[in-house]
Amino acid sequence: MKLNRIIQGDTLAELIKLPDAVAQAIIADPPYFNVLENEAWDTQWKTAADYLAWCDAWVAESMRVLRADGLCFIFGQLGKREHTFIHLMSRLTLQHQFHDLIIWDRAVGYNERRDSFTPQYEMVLVLRKGEHAKFNKDAVRIPYDSRTIHAYMSDSRYKDMEARRMHLEKGKFATNILRVSSLKGTSKEKCGHPSQKPIDLIDKFILCSTDEGDLVIDPFLGSGTTAASAKRLNRRWLGIERDSNYIQIAEKRLSNPPTATPKKKRVKPTAVRAKSSDSEPDLFKLSTKN
Ligand SMILES: C[S@@+](CC[C@H](N)C(=O)[O-])C[C@H]1O[C@@H](n2cnc3c(N)ncnc32)[C@H](O)[C@@H]1O
Repeated sequence: MKLNRIIQGDTLAELIKLPDAVAQAIIADPPYFNVLENEAWDTQWKTAADYLAWCDAWVAESMRVLRADGLCFIFGQLGKREHTFIHLMSRLTLQHQFHDLIIWDRAVGYNERRDSFTPQYEMVLVLRKGEHAKFNKDAVRIPYDSRTIHAYMSDSRYKDMEARRMHLEKGKFATNILRVSSLKGTSKEKCGHPSQKPIDLIDKFILCSTDEGDLVIDPFLGSGTTAASAKRLNRRWLGIERDSNYIQIAEKRLSNPPTATPKKKRVKPTAVRAKSSDSEPDLFKLSTKN
């Protein structure tokens, strides 16, 4: 099987050609069904029932190509009060094993509704194939902020500052609410796809679910975000996309040298003593657990 390439074609027709149990992760950002009214790829079904039946088929094929300890991530949103994704989640979790429901907190609201809270999140349904999924929790830790680090390192109750420093340096475990800013129109990362996902978000999915050298498949590659992320994280990848314009965008993106992933900062073990006025951030009280 030739890897690290974009397959042009219909995802269902192309997934069927792939062998069983080859992918460690599937990252799927499928059409949402009539959310992007000006995009032909999002309005290709007459009814929600047709759309849901199509989803059953491509998800079944995705799960077939997934390894036994692999994870399948599926994006969906309710931003315009479209609720097809709720039905999709319900039926997919009856057909496959539910692993998690991740909230992607986009950091800013979108699609301003006048009569309710402004939507700010999208969802990512995570299915697993077998009982035990590979999950590298340490790979997606979140660095502590400087105020928290200062508070911990200033606390005289900690005797072993080196152990404290090492604990802080690892960062805290990420929750399943992932805050990554959505791409603004002016963002340098934007490359011309109406629903391009931020690469920092896709990095998190790839880092937690795969090791270097593992295969990641994106059945709806769009502008190539999953491929660009897999490339910079040294994973093998395969992307399927039907639209030649998006393939061109993705290929251009992939021909650029990979952008570096941000490095975690090293915490200096400065044993600063807390002033009595220093308040400890209540989110990270003195627990050494995450
Ligand atoms: C939500 S977008 C993916 C965006 C992508 N995550 C990114 O960051 O650029 C969905 C993509 O699926 C493609 N698509 C829709 N139906 C398809 C099908 N049946 N087979 C292959 N690709 C399809 C569309 O052309 C569109 O680019």
